[in-house]
Amino acid sequence: MNTRFLGDLAVSALGLGCMPMSSHYGPSEDANSTATLEQALALGITFWDTAAVYGHGHNEELLAPLVARQRDRIVLATKFGIDKDGSLDGSPAATRRSIDESLARLGVDHVDLWYLHRVDPATPIEETVGAMAEAVEAGKVRHLGLSEASAESLRRAHAVHPITALQSEWSLWTRDLEPEVLPVARQLGIGIVPYSPLGRGMLTGALTGRDSLDEGDRRLQTPRFSEENFDHNRHLVTVLEEVGAGLGYTAGQVALAWVLAQGDDVVPIPGTRSVPHLEENAAAVDIRLSDGDLARIEAAMAAVQGGRYPGEHRYGDSPPLRQ
Ligand SMILES: NC(=O)c1ccc[n+]([C@@H]2O[C@H](COP(=O)([O-])OP(=O)(O)OC[C@H]3O[C@@H](n4cnc5c(N)ncnc54)[C@H](OP(=O)(O)O)[C@@H]3O)[C@@H](O)[C@H]2O)c1
Repeated sequence: MNTRFLGDLAVSALGLGCMPMSSHYGPSEDANSTATLEQALALGITFWDTAAVYGHGHNEELLAPLVARQRDRIVLATKFGIDKDGSLDGSPAATRRSIDESLARLGVDHVDLWYLHRVDPATPIEETVGAMAEAVEAGKVRHLGLSEASAESLRRAHAVHPITALQSEWSLWTRDLEPEVLPVARQLGIGIVPYSPLGRGMLTGALTGRDSLDEGDRRLQTPRFSEENFDHNRHLVTVLEEVGAGLGYTAGQVALAWVLAQGDDVVPIPGTRSVPHLEENAAAVDIRLSDGDLARIEAAMAAVQGGRYPGEHRYGDSPPLRQ
């Protein structure tokens, strides 16, 4: 696996999103998840993404045994700032408490990258990042990041303490960060970690209808997976299947290759709890799409219908979300 850099933090060119191992996308089995983590290590996918809120601590605890055995190989990233009820809390007190709780669940004395999961509108970003910086000084955290932050928040945060990475949704069907946020991140030398690079699974083509999702799957509550929009959006993915078929790749690999092609400072973290899916995704790092293919899939996916989250949602500095 190649190496890429988020600021001065070296990471595997593809990371692993661990959220589906504990929440959001239907039931998961720890044995499958652990096998996926083991295989990620074998493939050199060592940049692991978790969060305090995923499974309300379950996800961090799930990672702990492997991390304990391979601490030096794993670049461990976690996030804080979303409470169990979905409310945001970036207050200095919550920030200080959160890092100790995450370290305890992960069974480590430090994490490599610690993100604010969502900017808390009730707390000036300077105060949150100031408290995050204390954790760096204390040796509990090596690098700081923000998730879904606006350009202004990035600038204000970076003025308090260097920000290494911005984790935000970025894929062929979610390109909101490109006009304003991306140029500022690049100007400041902040690396980009695209989340949901597979469009929460839709861009793989594996989902054939709403009935392929479990009853409790959060995607059923989102506009892009609604009765009204699912079939339209699924149909758009046929262009990824066509481009992939001509080259011997899957739709999901084409989707990941597009994200990887956006720059060497871009490190996507596709989520999976499946060894075969992990292996398929890992192979995408070697794919180079032609300019013609890139333009073709961008044009087709621009027709996406529906918002990415339920209800009103604007990019960056978001109002409270249900996680
Ligand atoms: N900062 C934030 O606010 C935020 C928000 C959302 C996510 N994230 C992070 O970003 C990571 C990735 O995002 P995501 O998990 O939401 O979405 P994603 O990576 O776009 O898609 C994950 C979904 O695709 C499926 N999948 C993965 N590889 C596949 C393949 N090769 N073929 C068929 N299906 C495949 C997974 O199911 P299987 O498990 O069956 O493979 C899962 O349901 C998360 O895991 C999490 O760590 C962060």
